[in-house]
Amino acid sequence: MIEIGDPPIQIPADVTEPIYFASLIAGLEPVVADELAEKLPEARLLGVLRGRLFFSYAGPPADTVELLTVENVFGYAAQLTEIPATEDGLDFIEQALVGIDLSGALALHEELHGAKTDPCFRITGQRAGRHAYKSPAIAAAAGSGVVHRYGWRVDLEKYDYDVRVYVTDDSALVGVRLSPEALHRRARVVHGAASLNPTVAHAMCRLSRPAPGQVFVDPMCGAGTILVERAGWGDGPLLIGGDAYVAPLHLAQQNLTASDASAGLINWDGRRLALATGSVDALVCNMPWGRRIGSHVTNVHLYPGFIREVVRVVRPGGVAVLLTQEKRLITRLIDKHPALALQDTLTLSLSGLHPSIYVIQRVE
Ligand SMILES: C[S@@+](CC[C@H](N)C(=O)[O-])C[C@H]1O[C@@H](n2cnc3c(N)ncnc32)[C@H](O)[C@@H]1O
Repeated sequence: MIEIGDPPIQIPADVTEPIYFASLIAGLEPVVADELAEKLPEARLLGVLRGRLFFSYAGPPADTVELLTVENVFGYAAQLTEIPATEDGLDFIEQALVGIDLSGALALHEELHGAKTDPCFRITGQRAGRHAYKSPAIAAAAGSGVVHRYGWRVDLEKYDYDVRVYVTDDSALVGVRLSPEALHRRARVVHGAASLNPTVAHAMCRLSRPAPGQVFVDPMCGAGTILVERAGWGDGPLLIGGDAYVAPLHLAQQNLTASDASAGLINWDGRRLALATGSVDALVCNMPWGRRIGSHVTNVHLYPGFIREVVRVVRPGGVAVLLTQEKRLITRLIDKHPALALQDTLTLSLSGLHPSIYVIQRVE
């Protein structure tokens, strides 16, 4: 179990390795910690805030941008505390940035992207909490501090460095972005009406306990994000996707082809899957939430029949990982079914909503 703390993170005094932090979809922290432990076993987890994970790592910075459940990876620079919520907060941030040494984060950036002569930069300011100022004002104040200290030019489009300032209530986190672009922009060449963020899709696949040669199904696959992410494991799963409409299946095919992946795609109703009983090892699905796709009323008709099919097709001991905003509807159906055991629930902050991932074991 990882503990999600409040800012600032206390960086232990004995840390000598470079320090990083990752930004992630809030709610995915345990999955990101798990991926970090598996892929970078020498990394040391330093602390976790909601939507942020701090770690130190002595290996090549390039390893850190291989993490697939995170949005961005940064070289850590500093944390600020006791920032006034009034207009004075902007002066406070500007002065603080004059004093912040970015050299540790810049060294990581240089190792990844090469040295920059006469660099230009941009600041990205993000804010959560009650303040008398908005994010662009934070960026302007912090940018002025950086110009004062380093004399770099500002270029919002063709910048060498993206300095990030995350203000949460009266604290702030400052770093230099190392990942070349938001890591979640991978995987898709075309998007559906409710395409899932690939970092969430990847996290859902991790939660389904990937194993070589699995039969893996996304019965409502839309543009195929989950299938593409699962294919990335490269462990020879049999991938099957389906959707009630043909148009999203065409999108899924394009995304799979662009990722050099293949899956069987079937036009079906999620309440009647053309799959043998007990034939599926892992079923992962971003269900209609009743907002962009469907409605609560259509979900009331869809969910019971769909869950019945989940119970039928997933083999005893197999797993289903479902994402939806329809919490009451889905938990009632899971609780009611003796063949399903809810193992974990992760509630996310995603596009202004708070859907949950349900990890369900098909009981033996
Ligand atoms: C939330 S979207 C999935 C988005 C997908 N994860 C992606 O990244 O593009 C839900 C999908 O369920 C499909 N759907 C809705 N009702 C269905 C049903 N009865 N049977 C199968 N698919 C259905 C919709 O067409 C839609 O593509």
